[in-house]
Amino acid sequence: MGNIIIKNSEQIAGIRASSRLAASTLEYIAEFVRPGVSTGFLDQKIEEYILEHGAVPATKGYNGFPKSSCISPNEIVCHGIPSEKTILKEGDIINIDVTTILNGYYGDTSRMFAIGEISERARRLMETTKHCLDLAIEQVKPGNQFGNIGFVISRYARAKGYSVVYEFCGHGVGLNFHEEPQVDHTSRRNTGPVMQPGMTFTIEPMINEGRPGTRIDKADGWTARTVDNRLSAQFEHTVLVTPTGVEVLTDVRNEYPIS
Ligand code: MF3
Ligand code: CO
Ligand code: CO
Repeated sequence: MGNIIIKNSEQIAGIRASSRLAASTLEYIAEFVRPGVSTGFLDQKIEEYILEHGAVPATKGYNGFPKSSCISPNEIVCHGIPSEKTILKEGDIINIDVTTILNGYYGDTSRMFAIGEISERARRLMETTKHCLDLAIEQVKPGNQFGNIGFVISRYARAKGYSVVYEFCGHGVGLNFHEEPQVDHTSRRNTGPVMQPGMTFTIEPMINEGRPGTRIDKADGWTARTVDNRLSAQFEHTVLVTPTGVEVLTDVRNEYPIS
């Protein structure tokens, strides 16, 4: 138990700018995401875009992670390593996760992409996962407790017949890549620290079709797959607690009103 950093207005402005760059990187990469393309190629384009905008990719060299993004197809839950050998094919679903460092400030976001035509099953999993994130964002306001984030995520996901990954969590973010608190996606109602204006953190639910457990690839030490090789989906935003509610710092699509 350490402490949750309350950011001042200068820091918030910096984290907002970095978050917007991370989000616009995902917008930029969308046009390249199609069948036949390798995840290694997508990572190269992501790296170029981030560097051109005066930032650096936070994942490159982070605890030895080799690439500028995490790209996680199908049964990969998170931390997929982009590779020229991983070629996207029709029917795949992938998560692309981008974290930028701009002027020392961190922004972290991810979303799913469909490769060509996908199954109804895969589409329903992605839509449910996005809705889990939206429900969680509604919980962000001063005075509410962090546990209510995981509570609404797990209640909704389980009602749809899915399971929630408990081995990876959201996190405070902004001055560092991973700050306190740990933002659980399976927590209990009215538990955990109290949200206060100036807190910035991610919410990044990973929702599985089958069992919730994950295992890390022994060969690369990073790739986390579902234990049953069934599909997993994830969406992630960086959010700010405002005096009246929430600002979704990585929202460049204008999906969320500022409250
Ligand atoms: N961006 C991921 C997150 O949402 C973290 C990736 S760490 C890495 O927390 F080392 F795998 F890149
Ligand atoms: Co994150
Ligand atoms: Co991320």
